[in-house]
Order: sequence, then structure tokens, then C-alpha cells
Amino acid sequence: MDGVVAQHLTQDTRIFIAGHRGLVGAALWRHFAARGYDALIGAGSREVDLRDPGATRDFLERTRPQVVIDAAARTGGIAANMTRPVDFLSDNLRIQLNLLDSAVSVGVDRLLFLGSSCIYPKFADQPISEDALLTGPLEPTNEAYAMAKIAGIMHVRSIRRQYGLRYISAMPTNVYGPGDNFNPHDSHVLPAMIRRFYDAARGGAESVTCWGSGTPRREFLHADDLAAACHHLLDHYDDERPINIGTGTDCSIAELASMVADAAGFEGVIRWDDSRPDGTPRKLIDIVRLTELGWTAKIGLADGLKSTYEWFVDHQDDYRT
Ligand SMILES: NC(=O)c1ccc[n+]([C@@H]2O[C@H](COP(=O)([O-])OP(=O)(O)OC[C@H]3O[C@@H](n4cnc5c(N)ncnc54)[C@H](OP(=O)(O)O)[C@@H]3O)[C@@H](O)[C@H]2O)c1
Repeated sequence: MDGVVAQHLTQDTRIFIAGHRGLVGAALWRHFAARGYDALIGAGSREVDLRDPGATRDFLERTRPQVVIDAAARTGGIAANMTRPVDFLSDNLRIQLNLLDSAVSVGVDRLLFLGSSCIYPKFADQPISEDALLTGPLEPTNEAYAMAKIAGIMHVRSIRRQYGLRYISAMPTNVYGPGDNFNPHDSHVLPAMIRRFYDAARGGAESVTCWGSGTPRREFLHADDLAAACHHLLDHYDDERPINIGTGTDCSIAELASMVADAAGFEGVIRWDDSRPDGTPRKLIDIVRLTELGWTAKIGLADGLKSTYEWFVDHQDDYRT
């Protein structure tokens, strides 16, 4: 396939993991640290606000990373995206603009920009290939976030064309895992369900009502698999086209709810509030190109869900809300 490189990172490569305390960034940090990478660079938003161009550039000048992985973003579920679209557009545009501009100006050799599968049209053919980008209208509930991510892809592509730098973009499907955001107001569907079914099981509730009809189908990728995929791409991929990162399998939201209910030991009834929006009917991304590069996900949903649920139970005092 086009765009294949074989230039591996080494344990002394200075890698700045932007957003290293988030779900994805922390998994990246764990992944590289476990493999002996000892020149990792991180900074939380309180230390360096990446919306601030001067602070971003100063930080990169001071730390001189050779590789940047952009896992810093304002993120959230459907409710947060619908009520605060300006925040999702403005913060994400600024974070990625500052990081990309600063990376070019301080001479960062390689950069991986993380987008999201929500960049694809609402009614794209399934599974969604990378070629579906900009071929139809977006899902309205998160179009502001998606537009920011599309701008990031174009920024990476433009940097490659204008400066010849080996920057790449990857589009993960829905991610979950330890350290996820379990806030009921702005979490994604899987951690939101974990918290609701945990509370319901402990409180002896007779029923749990979930948003929507339960029929939409979604794909879920464990954060540790995503971290491994990012490493694989930095070692093997060099192309201006974004590349999908997924598992190749999906399930309905109703099936997901049953799995979470089982993990929590919830024995009541699951109800569906179909006055709430469903979002895109199906979202399964095409992973042919990633598979051709020699990478496939290793953590199945049942195992990943069980360990994430256990993590949540064990971190009742310090999980993120
Ligand atoms: N989670 C998913 O399902 C999913 C799916 C596809 C793609 N992605 C992409 O993966 C990336 C990471 O997502 P995530 O789920 O790990 O998000 P997350 O858990 O919300 O973490 C986001 C990270 O970004 C940092 N950040 C936010 N605003 C910042 C700012 N102004 N300055 C510096 N850092 C800032 C946060 O730092 P602090 O904690 O220090 O504030 C946090 O560590 C995002 O680009 C997202 O679009 C995620």
C-alpha cells in the first residue's frame, strides 16, 4: 500500500503526548512507558493551556520533542456536544492550530493528529472508508466538533504539501477504557452506562432508562489497543490521507446496555427513551488499510468492558467526573 514507512521510534525518542492525562493520552503514556521509552513529555492543561499560542510554542521550544501525538482536545458525549457546540469548535480549533503551527516552527520531525470517526457523513456507506470524508452532510448533533477535526486533517495535509513534513492523521472509532470520563452530563455512551448501571445495581433500582431507541450500532475500541495502533502508525505509516483505527466489529446500543448490566449485576428492566436523539444509525469504520499495515485490535469488547467496569469499581474515590 502507498505511504508505508519503516522507520521505528526508539526508546530515547522524545515524544510529547499532548493530553497525557486523558483517556487516550494516559493509555499512550502507559504503552510507551511499559516499553522502556524514557523521554516522554507531558503537560496538563493547567501547566500549558494549548489554546494559548504563546504558551504552546514556549513549551515546545523548551522541551524540543521529536515526535508529537495530539491527544489533547475538548471531548464529550452527545448532550455536551448539543449544548456547547461553540466550546467544541473553538477549543479544538485552537488546540490543534497551536500545536501544529508550533510543531512546524520548532522542527518537530513527526506528528500524529487524532481526529474522530464523527468526521464522516451521517449516512456514509458502511463500513465507512476514509474516502467518505466530505462526501455528505455531517451528523448535526456533533457537527461543530467534527468540523474542527476536519480542519485538523486539512492542516496536517497542508503541512505535508507545503513543508514536506511527515505528519499524519488517524481517525479512531469510539474509545473506552480505564480513566474514562464518567460524568453523567458529558460522558460518552459506554462510561455513562457503566456509571448508571453501577448506581442502579447498588441502589436496587427496578429499571434503568437509556437515551434513544437502542437500535443504533456502534464500534468500541479499547484505549490500550488505540495506543498500540498509534505506535504502529508512527512506525509504519506516512501518507496525507487520514487512516481509520477500529476493531472491525460493532454492536447495537441495546446489546451494549445488556453487557454493561450483566457486568454490574443489574437484574432490573432496561427501558428506552426514544424521545431522545439516536445520532448516526450505524457507525462502523473500514479498517482495511490499517489491517494491510499489519495491525489488528487485540482486546475484545466483553473483556475490555469487564476490566473497565472493574477499574471503575476500584476507583470510586478518584474516577474522573
Ligand atoms: N474518547 C473517544 O471515544 C475518542 C474517539 C475518537 C477520537 N478521540 C480523540 O482522541 C483524543 C483524546 O480523547 P480522550 O477521549 O482521551 O479525551 P479526554 O479523556 O477528554 O482527554 C483530553 C485531554 O486533553 C487535554 N486538554 C483539553 N483541553 C486542553 C487545553 N486547553 N490545553 C491542554 N490540554 C488540554 C486534557 O488535559 P487536562 O486533563 O490536563 O485538562 C485531557 O488530558 C481527542 O482528539 C479525541 O477527539 C477520542
